[in-house]
Amino acid sequence: MTKKIAFWIFLIGTLSSAALFLGATYDTHRQVGTLANVDKLSDQVVAGKRAFEKYNCNDCHTILGFGGYYAPDLTKVVRRVGEEGIRYRLKSPEVAFANSPRKMPQQNLSGQEITDLVAFFSWVGEINNNDWPPQDSKKRLSRGEQMMVAKVGVSPGAAVFQTKGCMNCHALHGTGGTFGPPLDLVGRGKTIEEIEHYIQNPGGVNPKAKMPPQKDNLSQRELEEVARFLATQK
Ligand code: HEC
Ligand code: HEC
Repeated sequence: MTKKIAFWIFLIGTLSSAALFLGATYDTHRQVGTLANVDKLSDQVVAGKRAFEKYNCNDCHTILGFGGYYAPDLTKVVRRVGEEGIRYRLKSPEVAFANSPRKMPQQNLSGQEITDLVAFFSWVGEINNNDWPPQDSKKRLSRGEQMMVAKVGVSPGAAVFQTKGCMNCHALHGTGGTFGPPLDLVGRGKTIEEIEHYIQNPGGVNPKAKMPPQKDNLSQRELEEVARFLATQK
């Protein structure tokens, strides 16, 4: 390669990368209002953010990826533990986390501050950030399931079956509950789709079904994995 060609590769490469970067930055900024639901940014949400700063929650927690790595990310905490769950944890962390090896301090937040923080977390949780962070994504298996797959060596579907309460009612290979039928032969003559359909909403298939619908219990990914696993039981 001559010096001249190297120069042009450098120049065109740098300029086109810069143009792409500026374009993508501009495009993101253009959409911030919509992606972040700026219209829902109420005074209460702002007050919650102020409380978040006042108590330095960021020292231990990340939110939208920023902060300390000691405690769980709070971006999707409403989805994870619910508004009531947040209130309980903020009011009495010494009780809520009594059995946890890592502790959250009792910060004596006022009732108003707790309400504001909940509003703040609800707003943050609704930001369209492409399903981030991954540990709270509904498209993936939960951390517990991933650990089972990695450590026990079971298939993802078997991990879902064992961690999502199915065994409270169903037995497989002689282990499990008896409220529902054993599922050792459930894959006989049924397609994955039929099984998936049943699990999601038993009442839709059989109006007399006693099995509760699982559509809120399982992510789409979990549903597909557990159905694929059960289809092999025959
Ligand atoms: C000294 C570190 C520390 C500070 C400061 C702190 N936390 Fe925590 N927090 C923790 C730890 C550790 C946990 C997780 C305990 C566990 O589950 O093991 C936690 C858990 C939580 C949870 C529950 C998360 C979940 O997924 O279960 C919420 C909500 C929360 N904190 C909010 C706050 C807020 C709001 C503040 C500021 C007012 C705050 N935290 C300040 C350490 C801290
Ligand atoms: C509260 C008890 C209960 C739980 C929890 C439960 N089931 Fe069921 N399930 C039943 C009962 C009872 C039936 C029998 C038909 C009916 O009444 O719905 C059934 C039927 C089924 C069937 C159809 C069996 C057949 O032969 O057609 C499948 C598949 C199934 N369950 C899968 C699951 C999976 C997967 C989970 C966990 C995500 C689960 N069930 C959790 C009670 C339960």
